[in-house]
Amino acid sequence: MISLDIQKIRNDFPILNQQVYNKPLIYFDNGATTQKPQVVIDEELKIYSHENSNIHRGVHYLSEQLTQRYEDARKTVRKFINAKHDHEVIFTSGTTESINTIAFSFGEKYISEGDEIIISTVEHHANIVPWQMLCERKKAILKVIPINDKGELLLDEYQKLISPKTKIVAVNQVSNALGTVNNVKKLIDIAHQQNIPVLIDGAQSIQHGNIDMQELDCDFFVFSGHKIYGPNGIGVLYGKEKLLNEMPPFMTGGEMIKKVTFEKTTFNELPFKFEAGTPNYVGAIGLVAAINYIQNIGLGNIATYEKELLDYATKKLESIDGLKIIGTSQKKVSVISFVLDNIHHYDAGMVIDKMGIAVRTGHHCAEPLMNRFSIEGTIRASFSFYNTKEEIDKLHEALLTVKQMFS
Ligand code: ALA
Repeated sequence: MISLDIQKIRNDFPILNQQVYNKPLIYFDNGATTQKPQVVIDEELKIYSHENSNIHRGVHYLSEQLTQRYEDARKTVRKFINAKHDHEVIFTSGTTESINTIAFSFGEKYISEGDEIIISTVEHHANIVPWQMLCERKKAILKVIPINDKGELLLDEYQKLISPKTKIVAVNQVSNALGTVNNVKKLIDIAHQQNIPVLIDGAQSIQHGNIDMQELDCDFFVFSGHKIYGPNGIGVLYGKEKLLNEMPPFMTGGEMIKKVTFEKTTFNELPFKFEAGTPNYVGAIGLVAAINYIQNIGLGNIATYEKELLDYATKKLESIDGLKIIGTSQKKVSVISFVLDNIHHYDAGMVIDKMGIAVRTGHHCAEPLMNRFSIEGTIRASFSFYNTKEEIDKLHEALLTVKQMFS
């Protein structure tokens, strides 16, 4: 039994309390970015109003105070994902930068001609293109785990892809385009039997439930602050200490060095080796406000309520003639991707928008996945704990109107 006070929660998000096209805003594009509670907005305002100073560089009061707050943010993230060490948490600009950093740095050290990298059919472009480019640079081979028609990874096929040449597996925990939850624990265990490291893209999973690095035992885990009710431009690269220590830096510049002469540079230790330049300390501290906020609600409560929304929406939408849900795995987060018979997703999205409802339409940066289903794109409604069943009813009504208009 869920006892979340959704109205009270909604009041924490100023953006939700507005009209678009003279209709109350219904925000169902949480997969793209989540809205920010007032505490996150206030935290950023407070830093810029009273605390701003560059960190790790000054001996003056403001710099020392903010450096401490930034390093405390690292500790909060470590606890949040249950990493072993603070220095296993690297702050980046987001999931994309985290994956690129790993692809370049790990790739530089460990990938040679003929080596193999495994990804899956349900990856976002951010977890495809960096590996493709690495393969081009190193003459390595990219292998792709296939899926069934429900959008689930085929574990038997995955096992067949693994070879003595496999150097890394990189998969998402939740597909952004379908909402399907991948059995990453199993994928990790299988890879680890052959000592192959695994990167988990947590961009679409971290906001929907508790994630624990010790339990998952993945080698890398990445996510973005803006998808977890935190600020834009901040993200996390978690990596196991041993691997991160062995890997060379990706970006170079200030603060990631130990000593620089024109002849030679030696690098700083973890985590600073991977944080060149002025870090996004405002984002990191804002992320803490977001983490505290969702932890107060409880990630277990969030998962239960969002499942209620998903089940409700699935039933409602399935009842619409000519609507087909893409991604029908048993295990999903609160994301529904669908197509409408003979109606282009873009046309539908435009009409729905005019009714005040924000959904995402298109290929969702997962073109190979769309190709797998022989479609150009879908309409995607992605729900958050601040959404309601009444809003889902409005989406249902809007879709019926779309059908009428185009019939
Ligand atoms: N990756 C984000 C999405 O799925 C932008 O919409």
